[in-house]
Amino acid sequence: MDDKEVFRNIIDKNPDAILMVNKKGIVSFVNPEAERMFGRTTEEFIGNFFGYPLEVGKTGEISILSSMKGLRTAEMQVVELMWHHEDFYLVTLRDITGHNIVKKQLEKSTEKLKTIFRQTVKALVSAAEKRDPYTAGHQQKVAKLACTIADRMDLPENQKEAVGISSILHDIGKIYVPDAILNKIGGLSDADFDAIKTHPQFSYDIVKEIDFPWPIANIVIQHHERLDGSGYPMSLRDENILLEAKIIGVADVVEAMSADRPYRVSLGIDKALEEIVNNKNKLYDPIVVDICVKLFMHENFSFTQN
Ligand SMILES: [Fe+2]
Repeated sequence: MDDKEVFRNIIDKNPDAILMVNKKGIVSFVNPEAERMFGRTTEEFIGNFFGYPLEVGKTGEISILSSMKGLRTAEMQVVELMWHHEDFYLVTLRDITGHNIVKKQLEKSTEKLKTIFRQTVKALVSAAEKRDPYTAGHQQKVAKLACTIADRMDLPENQKEAVGISSILHDIGKIYVPDAILNKIGGLSDADFDAIKTHPQFSYDIVKEIDFPWPIANIVIQHHERLDGSGYPMSLRDENILLEAKIIGVADVVEAMSADRPYRVSLGIDKALEEIVNNKNKLYDPIVVDICVKLFMHENFSFTQN
């Protein structure tokens, strides 16, 4: 077999479709796979327009309606080539219809898994909140405000997801706080407050068992930390508190103060905003506070309406 025959075999037996198209878009050569892929004979190709836009150096995808194989998707690569002293495009097409079907199935199952994950988290949260009817929905509302703040701060998608998941779970550790304290009518003693203050650590203990792709456990344990170090459980200062925890901290205070509690009626949204504004820079992150106030004062933010 001489070299010419070998090269001819390489082209003819190639599993990719190979076409030569001149600068006017007219097909001058096709290999057998091109005939199979398009369901056209060599005669039907040669001298006719290829009909697809050709971009040199870029990998693109085209749809081919073949009489034999139905609708196919092919990955197309185009390079320039001299042939018989004329400039040509060498077009290579690979049938990726199968790949795309697998890719779509994978995307679908990933989406399904994400939905199951969100539903599981929600179920876990609502089970915990059932014990404490006064705070039922608290975490959902905090999540709504915290996510809106994160959105206005233009945080990367990844960080926004971390804010969403952590705010939904931030108080999950309250399931270890005795019912008698959570549902106590009237004032709470120092001992009661001490018991309540254990919940961020319990939230951390529960959440750290889940292998989240975000630092959820560290965010939830920090949601009661304050910039001046007066928070709990670790008395962290500004630079050591995660931004996500600062956002949830503000959203938590605003929601908690503006809602009824067993030991007091709602203080109202004005009082809640006053609290964060008065303690801006001292307890609460100034950027987070400004965005939060703007949401309520100028953008009609509401915990309950969409
Ligand atoms: Fe909390």
